[in-house]
Amino acid sequence: MDAQEPGRLTPALILFGAPGSGKGTQARLLRQQCLNGPHISTGDMLRQHIEARDLIGLDIEGRMRAGRLVSDELVNRLVEERIQQPDCRDGFILDGYPRTLNQAAVLRDFAAARGVDPYVVHLIVDYDKLVARLSGRRQCPVCGTLYSLSTNPPKVPGVCDLDGTALVTREDDREPVIRERLEQYELQTRPLLEYFQRVGVAMFEIQGAGATPDAIAKCICGKLAVSGRTVR
Ligand code: AP5
Repeated sequence: MDAQEPGRLTPALILFGAPGSGKGTQARLLRQQCLNGPHISTGDMLRQHIEARDLIGLDIEGRMRAGRLVSDELVNRLVEERIQQPDCRDGFILDGYPRTLNQAAVLRDFAAARGVDPYVVHLIVDYDKLVARLSGRRQCPVCGTLYSLSTNPPKVPGVCDLDGTALVTREDDREPVIRERLEQYELQTRPLLEYFQRVGVAMFEIQGAGATPDAIAKCICGKLAVSGRTVR
């Protein structure tokens, strides 16, 4: 991301919510429906390092398998590098970042220095639904499409509708690990809601359950349009 023209802010949508609240699903739909700019998922970035078996991947694999957060230092560095790429110039979507007070403060400093306008969408989903969703989640390893065994199963069991690839279950979608991830969320991430309010980051909340992903995305696009954020 280059230095901004005076007075022009870069919109940064922060999709915020517990594991399984639909951040990844919404990021993909929002890009189809109303937002430009890349979908930046820290979870995906970290999993790519694990798949590549590089030094970062080897270092973080144990923590991620156990459902614990990786270090602020690493995640802050990866995100800062990523959002300075040219494709982030007109806006970007953050999924899974920030997740600690340290990360939120680093992003805030970056935003102030680089003319970034952060906007938080908080997806609210009940705890029991989160556990059910994550245990039933399947993903296409090639195109990234997400399925839910209960609410959005693939047409042919175990196979991606779009490209026929065998679907996979994420390593951390086992029940004891899901519970650890939800606990980490309560302890380290939920407190950011109060932080965003205190420092005046724009935010709105939406029920992330009880409606289809598509309907939720339409509602978010509507809110973005009303708030004057970039909408195609
Ligand atoms: P990450 O990959 O970010 O995972 P997460 O936050 O736990 O979130 P998920 O990806 O599990 O869920 P989601 O909210 O995207 O929901 P989804 O759309 O898939 O992080 C993984 C790990 O990486 C962390 O535990 C940590 O170790 C590390 N990490 C990442 N970022 C970090 C950071 N900033 N700092 C430190 N460590 C970090 O949907 C879930 C399911 O629900 C799907 O099956 C979907 O089809 C279904 N679904 C979605 N919407 C609906 C709906 N409206 N109705 C019914 N079903 C729905």
